[in-house]
Amino acid sequence: MSQKDDKKNVFTEMEGSLNPENEKKFRPSGHDYFQPEEFMRLVHARRSVRKFDGLPIPIDISDKCLEAGLLAPNSSNLQTWEFIRVISPEIKTQLAEACFSQSAARTASELIVCLARTDRWKAHCELMLQEFEKFEKETGEKTPKAALVYYQKLAPFVYNVGPFSLYSPLKWLIFSVTGLFRPTPREPVTFSDLKTWAIKSCALACENIMLAFRAYGYDTCPMEGYDSKRVKKILGLSSHQHLVMILGVGKAVPGGVYGPQIRFDKKLFIKTI
Ligand SMILES: Cc1cc2nc3c(=O)[nH]c(=O)nc-3n(C[C@H](O)[C@H](O)[C@H](O)COP(=O)(O)O)c2cc1C
Repeated sequence: MSQKDDKKNVFTEMEGSLNPENEKKFRPSGHDYFQPEEFMRLVHARRSVRKFDGLPIPIDISDKCLEAGLLAPNSSNLQTWEFIRVISPEIKTQLAEACFSQSAARTASELIVCLARTDRWKAHCELMLQEFEKFEKETGEKTPKAALVYYQKLAPFVYNVGPFSLYSPLKWLIFSVTGLFRPTPREPVTFSDLKTWAIKSCALACENIMLAFRAYGYDTCPMEGYDSKRVKKILGLSSHQHLVMILGVGKAVPGGVYGPQIRFDKKLFIKTI
C-alpha cells in the first residue's frame, strides 16, 4: 500500500470540495464577520440568572434563539438533538417542582428542555442523503462520492452499537485490530459512548441558545439540578431522549445572580504544547 493510499479516508477524500469556487458558493454572507469586541462583550454579558420576571417571551425571539441553537456545529451533521419549549403553565409548574423548585425554574418565562437523541442517527443519515439529492436536482451539481459513501455506509456502521449494545464486543475488536495498523475511530462502541456522542453536540447548541437569548436582552440559567426520572415522566420521554440540561429563560429582575463570575487561573486549563 502506498503512502498515499494509506492516508485515504473520508476526510482526505472530501478535500476535493475545499476549493475557492465552493468557498464563494457555500459560505454564508456573514462569513467575513469581524466584530471581536462585540462578540467578547456578549460572551462576558451571559451569566446564569436565577430570578426572572416570568412575563411571556415574544415567540419570534424564542424561535430565533432556538434556531441559533440548530446552527451549532454537530457531529457528522446528524443533528441528533431536540429542544422542547415549555410554556404551558401547568407543565412548567410540574417541571419546576422536578427541578427541586429552584427559583431559576420557578420564575422562568419558559423552560427549554434540551435533549440528546440516540435513536435518530440512522433516520438523519437518510435525511442527509435526501438533502444531497435535492441539491443535485436544484443545481445539477454532483455530491462528492465520499460524502455519499459516508452517509450510506460508514456512518450507519460507526454509530450502530446494536440493540442493548450487542455489537459492542465486535466493534471493539474491529476498531482495536484496525487501530494496530492505522488511525481508526474508537468510539462509539457502547450505548454509553453513543449517548456521550449525542450529548456533546447538544451542549454546543445549548451555548448558542443562551448567547442568542442574551443578545436579544433575555437571560438564561442552564440546569441539571433536576430529578431526571420525574422530568422524563412529565414529558413522556423515551429511553432514547437523554436530558442534557434544562434552560430557564426570561427577563432578569434585580438580584438575579448569586455573585461575581468566578473563574480559576487560566493556567489551570489552557495548555500550549
Ligand atoms: C450543565 C450545567 C448544569 C447547571 N445546573 C445548574 C442548576 O441546576 N442550578 C443553577 O442554579 N445553576 C446551574 N448551572 C449554572 C452554573 O452554576 C453556572 O454556569 C456557574 O456557576 C458559572 O456561572 P455563570 O454561568 O454565571 O458564569 C449549571 C450549569 C451547567 C453548564
